[in-house]
Amino acid sequence: MTTKLGSMFLTVLLASVFAARADAPTTLKGAFQGSFVVGAAVNAAQFTGKDTRGAGIVKEQFNTITPENVLKWEHVHPQLDTYTFDLADQYVAFGEQNHMFIVGHNLVWHNQVPDWVFRDDHGNLLTRDLLLKRMQDHIRTVVGRYKGRIKSWDVVNEALNEDGTLRQSLWLKIIGEDYIAKAFQYAHEADPQAELTYNDYSVENEPKRKGTIALVKNLQAQGIPITSVGVQSHISLTWPSIDQEEATISAFAKLGVKVAISELDIDVLPRAAMQGTADVKTNIKLDPKLNPYADGLPDSVQQALAKRYAELFAVYLKHRDVVTRVTFWGVTDGDSWLNNWPVRGRSSYPLLFDRAGQPKPAFQAVLQTAVPH
Ligand code: G3I
Repeated sequence: MTTKLGSMFLTVLLASVFAARADAPTTLKGAFQGSFVVGAAVNAAQFTGKDTRGAGIVKEQFNTITPENVLKWEHVHPQLDTYTFDLADQYVAFGEQNHMFIVGHNLVWHNQVPDWVFRDDHGNLLTRDLLLKRMQDHIRTVVGRYKGRIKSWDVVNEALNEDGTLRQSLWLKIIGEDYIAKAFQYAHEADPQAELTYNDYSVENEPKRKGTIALVKNLQAQGIPITSVGVQSHISLTWPSIDQEEATISAFAKLGVKVAISELDIDVLPRAAMQGTADVKTNIKLDPKLNPYADGLPDSVQQALAKRYAELFAVYLKHRDVVTRVTFWGVTDGDSWLNNWPVRGRSSYPLLFDRAGQPKPAFQAVLQTAVPH
């Protein structure tokens, strides 16, 4: 009898231990279910399955994806009368097969847009009306093709300078300030159900944050639909402060828009460019001093990265009523654009999975933030 009771006790004890273990989240998408979707920017090797390890991590861990490059203008619309949807179609199919929230990135940007877009047959800049027509055709064709399938579009990308004024892009110079409103309007017409985002980096800094707020208010005053601000979050171990991060999310929430943490990575390498910038045109010469972890990341930095990620996710969770999505800009450290920017050929460690595809301490730290304490 005693033995029987003893073994029952043991069974109950073991069952509860295993139940607790089974409850502990092991995936990012599972950990934050009910709060926000978690995703990654994916490259062609991943979504075509050529990179089996990368594809495996994406399928297991994430429930939203963003195309790192294949939906940008130069890829999808390289010439006036040529659209190349092959890779973009495969990207969307991958997302659907894996039941993911599919993001489109991006429609109107000053980078990765061919020069012909702005010029006539003689090489002269187009008139406002002709450029608007070209923009509308592009948006109608690309958004229209994936209507109802791509759920959220980065409509306008990086339209602001660091001081919050509008960037002097050819979009602005030729069309005027309302190019932003027009882009949103065309995207809405092409897919009225799609979420529409204004996406930018270093909006945590007050001048640019103010510029973003003005931009959103301006659209809202005209009745132009805007769903969210994409806070890209190409950040470092020290910038922005947690207070700055909270203030940024709260400021956008006050406008009645949602916040997508749209391109998250944390640079642990020495600062080589202006803090907070993600201007892809920056290119600095490689110097060993700028590449201190070529042979691996010291444990102290690994721990600092984990702590930083945990602090950030605690903020995202606190604001889960407005934060709808957290997307990492890449899957493993080896894939990150930060290996080649702003200095080519560095070893960067900004993500949750290492070069071998193994979860880093930061991965566990992020999962832990989802566990009620
Ligand atoms: O595809 C060519 C390849 O054929 C060639 O051999 C190789 C040589 O350098 O270049 C390859 O193209 C590169 C492309 O990434 C694909 O890897 C381009 O040079 C490179 O400029 C391009 O960089 C992308 C960058 O946007 C360009 O604007 C990054 O992958 C991408 O991560 C980055 O993403 C941006 C977001 O769209 C907007 N916010 C900032 C973010 C980081 O810069």
